[in-house]
Formats: sequence, C-alpha cells, structure tokens
Amino acid sequence: MSKGPATASYDALATATSVLRDAGVENPARDLREILASVLEVTPAEAWLQRDRIADPDIAGAIDGAVQRRAAGEPLAYVTGRAGFRYLELGVDRRALIPRTETEGLVAAVLAWSRARAEPPRWALDLGTGSGCIALALAVEGKFERIVATDISDGALEVARANGSRLGLTVDWRQGSWLDPISGERFSVIVSNPPYIPEAEYHALDASVREFEPRVALESGPDGFEAISRILSHAGAFLEPGGLLALEIDARSTIPVTDLATASGWTRVRIERDLFDRPRYLFANKES
Ligand SMILES: C[S@@+](CC[C@H](N)C(=O)[O-])C[C@H]1O[C@@H](n2cnc3c(N)ncnc32)[C@H](O)[C@@H]1O
Repeated sequence: MSKGPATASYDALATATSVLRDAGVENPARDLREILASVLEVTPAEAWLQRDRIADPDIAGAIDGAVQRRAAGEPLAYVTGRAGFRYLELGVDRRALIPRTETEGLVAAVLAWSRARAEPPRWALDLGTGSGCIALALAVEGKFERIVATDISDGALEVARANGSRLGLTVDWRQGSWLDPISGERFSVIVSNPPYIPEAEYHALDASVREFEPRVALESGPDGFEAISRILSHAGAFLEPGGLLALEIDARSTIPVTDLATASGWTRVRIERDLFDRPRYLFANKES
C-alpha cells in the first residue's frame, strides 16, 4: 500500500532533519523550517502548514539540494538566500557578507544620535555597504534626505541594489574604494562596518565563514587596521561640522583604534557597547 502525501512528507522531513543533525547542524528543526520556507516562498510559520507540498518532486528536489548544502557547512542565510536585519528581510548570497546582529546596534546608535540632534540630519553615507543592510535600515527608519553607499565589490553592490529595489527604498549606490566615489558632498553621518580581521587571523577563521563569505569583507591587512585607518584619515573632509563618524570595530582593538582616531584629529572619540555588552562601536565627531 502506497503512503498518503502527509505520511510521505513527514518521512521526507524526518530524513532531512537527520541529515542535518548528523552533519552537526546545531538546530536542525529550525534550519529545515527556514529551508522549507525559502523553497515554498512563504514565511516559516506558513511553511510548516504547507509541508505536504513537498510531495511535488520539484519541491522535494529543491529541498534536498538545500539540505545538502547546509549539511556541507554553508551558512543558512546563503542556503535560503535570506537574512533578517532589524525590520528588514534582505536577500543575500556569497557576493556579500551576511549581516550580523552586532551591526543592528550600530544602526540603532546612529538613529538615536540623529533623533537627539537639534538640527535634523540631512545626508548619510555608508562605506562598505555589502548587502546594503546599514544604508537600507537607515533609509527605512531615518529622516535622511539622501543616503549614499559605497563598496569596492561590484558583486556586493548588485546584491545591495537588488535589496533596495525589492524594498522600494532609494539609496545612491556607488562602486569604488571607501571615499573615492565621493566628491564635493558633505554628510551629517558617515557610518561603516569595515573589514578588520588581521591577515594571519583570517586563515584561522571558522570554515563556515572563511569558505563562504567574501574575503574582501573580512580581512584588512597585516594588523587589521588598513580599512579603519583609511576611513579615519579621509572621512573628516566629507562630514558637516558637528557631524558623526560611527564605526563598528573589533572588541579587542578599542585602544589602538581610539589612538588612531585621536591622532587623525577626531574629537569626542568614544567607544560604546553592543547588545552583548562588548565594546564594539567607535563614535567621533568633527568640530563644529
Ligand atoms: C564587514 S563587511 C560589511 C558589509 C555590511 N556593511 C554589513 O555590515 O554587513 C565590509 C564591506 O566593505 C567592503 N570593502 C572592502 N574593502 C573596501 C574598499 N577598499 N572600499 C569600499 N568597500 C570595501 C567589502 O566589500 C564589504 O562589503
């Protein structure tokens, strides 16, 4: 007697969960639900209710492919092509870094600074935008008249542009190194989550990061300060008086990065903590 669709779906899902568990995936049920949701193009809650659709061979094949990728160590966000960032759902693939929770705190701090300012902020600049997460989160919540975002990677900018179009948010995306694509413009806020991993440490990164995420998004020269030094040296020329520079940094680098910022002429240099109480953000101002 052949199995009904509900029993067959249940068996297929149980097998997929075992494949993920045997591969060492920490939360196989959650990952499978996310995979199911991305293949069925519904929310994870809806995916569970629609699980009988995996009786369709095309859907079963797509789920099997995704489960194999996840079991081989690929990050879930790349397998599903989705990543949550604050109130946004972003598309991601291997051309752009997967947005991290810590970076949500950087956006929250920039928004809080903008709201507290006597004059409303005008323009914002996001350096090294990747998936566009920071620029788009500011566009959806901030009161900025204009947002510009740069990245050296054409691939990352394609991901960012696609996210902006899908979300109906306007950002001026520009390809080039840090501030090179900017000329004659002045911003109220310059924000960046630059790469900051030293070359030697890059090779010791977890394989789930090193083998899948773009190296240009992670590594930054022998001491990890190449990108940060460049930004600290040049960003001042593009900020309005009283404007804010906000950078995500390595929690172990607060002292050298604070020294670099002070030596580069920044004032009110201060470090703030992330949601996990680690010192992860550097804020500095340009003299009024
Ligand atoms: C740590 S990732 C951050 C991406 C995104 N802002 C986020 O928070 O998820 C650093 C980004 O800087 C970009 N990048 C690296 N070198 C760059 C350069 N010289 N000029 C501009 N962007 C650069 C990388 O392509 C990458 O997208």
